[in-house]
Amino acid sequence: MSEFAIETRGLSRRFGRQLAVDALDLHVSRRAVYGFLGPNGAGKSTTIRMLLGLLRPSDGQALIQGLDVGRDRIGAARQVGALLEAHGFYGNLTGRENLDLARTLRGLDRHELDRVLDLTDLRSSADKRVSDYSLGMRQRLGLARALMGSPSVLILDEPTNGLDPDGIADMRRFLAELPDRTGATVFVSSHLLHEVEQIATHVGILHLGRLTVQGRLSDLLAGQPQDIELATSDDAQARTLALAAGYDVADDLRLRLAPHDDARRVAAEVNRALIEAGLDVHRLAPRPRTLEALYRQARLNLPEAA
Ligand SMILES: Nc1ncnc2c1ncn2[C@@H]1O[C@H](COP(=O)(O)OP(=O)(O)OP(=O)(O)O)[C@@H](O)[C@H]1O
Ligand SMILES: [Mg+2]
Repeated sequence: MSEFAIETRGLSRRFGRQLAVDALDLHVSRRAVYGFLGPNGAGKSTTIRMLLGLLRPSDGQALIQGLDVGRDRIGAARQVGALLEAHGFYGNLTGRENLDLARTLRGLDRHELDRVLDLTDLRSSADKRVSDYSLGMRQRLGLARALMGSPSVLILDEPTNGLDPDGIADMRRFLAELPDRTGATVFVSSHLLHEVEQIATHVGILHLGRLTVQGRLSDLLAGQPQDIELATSDDAQARTLALAAGYDVADDLRLRLAPHDDARRVAAEVNRALIEAGLDVHRLAPRPRTLEALYRQARLNLPEAA
């Protein structure tokens, strides 16, 4: 069996003349929390719909737990719980009734209902009609449905949409703990880089349908060069000095370090040189490596920048 919970090989999808997903090779390890990132229109939802067998690829294949979605759609789908952008709940039914419908269709035990309602903190609103649900409640109900049957792969398309800050924190904790608690793999698309940074073990970044970055988050961040923010009493002279010392200096006077540079050592050296030259140093700050910097960098990895 494949070592990956989710794998795609050259997965592509055209809409007319537009190539919305372009030869995607996703590798999602078992028990990972995989953050699937990219700007609006990058192709995240299109990819997710192909992973679920809801949309036919133009080319390539998708495997869930080693099962080819194109050949064994039902078998692959049985491994997955999904939360999509459009939930498709019946507004005139209660949350509990909606879940019960999904439960019956899938032949799951009656106890599943209360289990997932508890997990998503929905017990108290389970008997309200879904049309009277708030956006966040609907999102929780979507998560509850995704969790029914304890799937080995959870695929979530922007699960924090509409959630309040407490709801976002709950979702974050829940997803982060799931692999250890149940052995499941979590694949989650999101725009909230700071949230993803806190829970993801792996990330993939999509730009214009192409995967520009993929890997273990800690490795990717460790490979990110650091910057040092600089402000002095004479920035023009500081720039000249920094350039003379061989540093790569950005327009706003940030020093762009190479991946192997030790930011603390460079900061100390630069500080000394500036003071010796008679400048006052107002600010000298190594900038922490963040997923946001990686995300911005990823845009530059496109073969021909758009
Ligand atoms: N059914 C469709 N018909 C035509 N074009 C489509 C269809 N679905 C998606 N697209 C196009 O494919 C591209 C990718 O869309 P997709 O919804 O996958 O992006 P996304 O990464 O999920 O964006 P967002 O972050 O806004 O949710 C977009 O240019 C979109 O207009
Ligand atoms: Mg989307």
